[in-house]
Amino acid sequence: MDKVGATSFTAATEKDWEIAVRQGRQRYIADAGVAALNLLKSQKDEPSNGWQVNNYEHSLSAATKALRNGEDEEYVVAVLLHDLAQDLDPMRHDRVAGTLMKPFLRPENHWMVANHQVFQLGFRTHSKFDTKACEKFRGHPFFEHTLRFCDLYDQSCFDPNAERLAIATFEPMVRRVFGRVMQARMTSYP
Ligand SMILES: [Fe+2]
Ligand SMILES: [Fe+2]
Repeated sequence: MDKVGATSFTAATEKDWEIAVRQGRQRYIADAGVAALNLLKSQKDEPSNGWQVNNYEHSLSAATKALRNGEDEEYVVAVLLHDLAQDLDPMRHDRVAGTLMKPFLRPENHWMVANHQVFQLGFRTHSKFDTKACEKFRGHPFFEHTLRFCDLYDQSCFDPNAERLAIATFEPMVRRVFGRVMQARMTSYP
């Protein structure tokens, strides 16, 4: 990799900019999705807060079930990464994950990730929160899509004996889903 001599933006020559921008774009495309995967992997050995699986295992279990059920690749990726922001902001981790993944997901999958917490509440039999809170969204075009996700792949994926494929199984999928959009973004800038 070429390195420029400048140590500030103001000192960088036109050639420096050409080198740094070109190499940056190539790397962003080559490594698309890796930052999201790394965030998920950072949860690998974290405590489970009393559940029988931790958040990382829950995520792998959910993605494995989605894959086995024949869901499409982008949906499997959305399932895998739906809780990647759990530790950043537990009470609004869906919004944070949704913001991170918005450019890379279809609208229905983005909305599903970004709003899953309020739908997940509907499956709780014990809660001080309003378990019917998702009703405010009834009629929304992605209501049923999100409810189905929470039922099939979120509330029901905390079993330590459920199949969990290795993260390596999903890495190429994440790279493809993020890479498609990254490629388009990087080549659309002047
Ligand atoms: Fe969640
Ligand atoms: Fe979850």
